[in-house]
Amino acid sequence: MSQLNIKPVTGNIGAEIEDIDLSAGVDGTARDDLVQALWAHQVLFFHDQEIDIERQKQITKIFGPLQRLPYVEPISDEPFVIGVHKKATDRKVAVFGGNWHSDFSFLEHPPAGSLLSAVEVPEVGGDTVWSNQITAYETLPDDLKAVVDGRDAIHVGKPHGVKFAPKGNQRSTVKMVRGDPEADRETFHPAVRAHPETGRKALFVNPVYTSRLDGMSEAESAPILDRLFWHATRPEFSCRHRWRAGDLVVWDNRTTLHFAVNDYDGFDRLLYRTTFSDDQPPHS
Ligand code: SIN
Repeated sequence: MSQLNIKPVTGNIGAEIEDIDLSAGVDGTARDDLVQALWAHQVLFFHDQEIDIERQKQITKIFGPLQRLPYVEPISDEPFVIGVHKKATDRKVAVFGGNWHSDFSFLEHPPAGSLLSAVEVPEVGGDTVWSNQITAYETLPDDLKAVVDGRDAIHVGKPHGVKFAPKGNQRSTVKMVRGDPEADRETFHPAVRAHPETGRKALFVNPVYTSRLDGMSEAESAPILDRLFWHATRPEFSCRHRWRAGDLVVWDNRTTLHFAVNDYDGFDRLLYRTTFSDDQPPHS
């Protein structure tokens, strides 16, 4: 029985953890409870936390070893920390994570999950939205289930490569590598993956990195992927977070999609981001 005060925020995904002070460190039982709560609710929200980067790294390690992300510049002297920053003067630019995705799904070992802590938030806008991919899989129409069950999907580092390079001025708020042919390499992952801790099956495709389905060309895959993406991001599978300074959020990257809403030109927004690994490729 968990000792945590857990308040679900929707009928499908996300829970607030109340009455916990993460700045003081977390002991053995509470650590296990937090891990179980994450697997159960997929996204956890903590408010009014006074934590520095060192503490955030320690909290991250409750869920798995720190993972360094490629293609994205970390903050100085902190290889495991990204500053997700948009300045008030950054107008009409792409934000980091601005479309539905599972983090770095094109890697052989995609991250198990991530944490964001809010340092500076806009007066309005700048929310983050997550969607539950276990529910997405469980409610998939039968014809789509027949396509994805037992099949791999192919993932490519599109924003960082050559073949799918975004057109036009793609000035982003976070410094990242663009135009690296190595990022065009195809990585095969099961389109339906089993969670390594719970065994629950989740749909594992996303519009940012999934290029096609195994055994099909990109053109053949496109209409099927469009239907999968539409279903995967249905509003009733999602929760939306309105940030306050001092919030800390952790999510399971294996069973969720997420994106940052880019609707706050003229305001500063700074979140620190850490990532944890499960040291294994996705499996079905
Ligand atoms: C991300 O990690 O994809 C960015 C999320 C956010 O800035 O809200």
